[in-house]
Amino acid sequence: MNAEAIGGVFSAAHQEFTGWSARLWRPLGEITTAVARPAPGERVLDACCGAGASAIPAALAVGPGGVVHGIDVAEGLLEHGRREATALGLDRLRFVNADVLDWRDDSPYDLVQCAYGVFFFPDMDAGGRRLAGLLRPGGRFVVTTWLRDGMARLVPIGVAAAAPERPELAEHLGGANPSERVDTAEKVRAWLSSLGLREIRVEQVQFTQPLHPDDAWPFFLSAAMRGFVEGLPPDAVDRVRARFERGLREAGIDTLDGSSLIGMGRLPG
Ligand SMILES: C[S@@+](CC[C@H](N)C(=O)[O-])C[C@H]1O[C@@H](n2cnc3c(N)ncnc32)[C@H](O)[C@@H]1O
Repeated sequence: MNAEAIGGVFSAAHQEFTGWSARLWRPLGEITTAVARPAPGERVLDACCGAGASAIPAALAVGPGGVVHGIDVAEGLLEHGRREATALGLDRLRFVNADVLDWRDDSPYDLVQCAYGVFFFPDMDAGGRRLAGLLRPGGRFVVTTWLRDGMARLVPIGVAAAAPERPELAEHLGGANPSERVDTAEKVRAWLSSLGLREIRVEQVQFTQPLHPDDAWPFFLSAAMRGFVEGLPPDAVDRVRARFERGLREAGIDTLDGSSLIGMGRLPG
């Protein structure tokens, strides 16, 4: 998917996505910020910011003398972020609708953070280099990804559920998920190192909670998997839902596993 298509899916998902903010995105965004440690007065880029799960905590941390730019292609999510930032009086936080891989600003950043975004880039390595290139010498790059055998277990179940209605998805059955490139601490460390970053450390965060069967479908619709059912007639969507819920039962999945890796590296200089 290109950035425009990704933005369309997440924008359409804004209600379901923000329905998971309190249980998933915000706590993990807070933890990302706790590792990134934006300091008062710093300039921060939150790449793929969504509704601001990590951009808002960063804006609180940098204080009135700091600046945070939250960049995303999903206007529907950005609107939620803008409303919350306005309510909190966070005028140092700007949400901008743009492809982050085209984003540039006049001054370099002290911190670039990207939570659950890099695996959407058409070329993860080029995208990572591009983001790291926006840092000042000595600046920090922070990336948050899903830990292996957690969230990614849902994707093949979603693909298998949708494939009978969408034959073009069949070629993805059993295929690699881009998030697998950064789903262990060793892989995140190696990836950050390949971007030219140093002083790398990776934190592993266990984050699970019950997933009630009635919450499984709203979760499907909140995520990129939503793209699988876009444009399908209602009866086909119902069949995808039934197969997805059955697939979760058969796999014994009754928890939402948002366990994550938060990697940080510093640009030399
Ligand atoms: C799983 S969401 C995570 C959002 C947010 N970081 C959070 O933790 O709640 C991934 C986000 O990446 C955005 N995204 C993917 N590729 C992008 C790109 N090239 N430029 C800007 N945003 C992008 C999507 O629109 C989506 O909002």
